[in-house]
Amino acid sequence: MSNETWTAVDRYFSDLVVQADPAIEAAMEASEAAGLPAINVSPCMGKLLNLLTRLHRARNILEIGTLGGYSTIWLGRALPPGGSLVTLEREPRHAAIARENLARAGLGETVEIVVGPALETLPGVEGPFDLVFIDADKPAGADYLAHALRLARPGTVIVVDNVVRSGRVADPDDTDPAVAGSRRVLHALAAEPRLSATALQTVGSKGYDGFALAVVQE
Ligand code: SAH
Ligand code: DHB
Ligand code: MG
Repeated sequence: MSNETWTAVDRYFSDLVVQADPAIEAAMEASEAAGLPAINVSPCMGKLLNLLTRLHRARNILEIGTLGGYSTIWLGRALPPGGSLVTLEREPRHAAIARENLARAGLGETVEIVVGPALETLPGVEGPFDLVFIDADKPAGADYLAHALRLARPGTVIVVDNVVRSGRVADPDDTDPAVAGSRRVLHALAAEPRLSATALQTVGSKGYDGFALAVVQE
């Protein structure tokens, strides 16, 4: 089984069942044209974030790691009227592109982009949030989880992206700071009595990776 097959199936699923709307497609194209790295979630994963938001009837979302706002639009599209989303981005250039993409998607009023290193801006963020999506620099994942818990309420859903990294997460000798960061965040999820968690491996257009999903006990 190869990356080529995973990508073909991802495309088949995204064309058939995901049905991204034109603003989402436009955000992808604008991000690519601006030279942003293609590290946004896949359409299938974006739709999963959208469905989780709707299943949970989340009204307030925190995202850590905006890039061009691709995942932000999938999440924001799932909010009910009056819902809100705060997204944190270190790079002003990424935030500027995201702002354009979000405005085009009609989410300019719904989404607040907070520019700066997340560990510096998080202390000023006010919760509680119904759903938190952690997708910024991987070495700081456990720190972001601690903030997510501080900004959570019973029932809050937490999603952590990129916890598999082609399987390297299960190798304790892997010294890559991103891999070590993912291991640390998984250990923190496991050790936190307020959380119930799982993690899933995924293959697709983004290769072999996965995400963790947790809920704060009611
Ligand atoms: N969630 C996006 C992808 C985010 S990529 C999507 O799926 O569409 C990760 C982003 O996190 C990048 O834009 C990067 O600039 C940002 N980032 C990296 N370190 C950060 C930090 N310390 N604080 C805030 N954002 C950071
Ligand atoms: C990277 C970051 C991501 O959030 C992602 O989904 C894939 C790759 C990266 O930094 O390489
Ligand atoms: Mg990611």
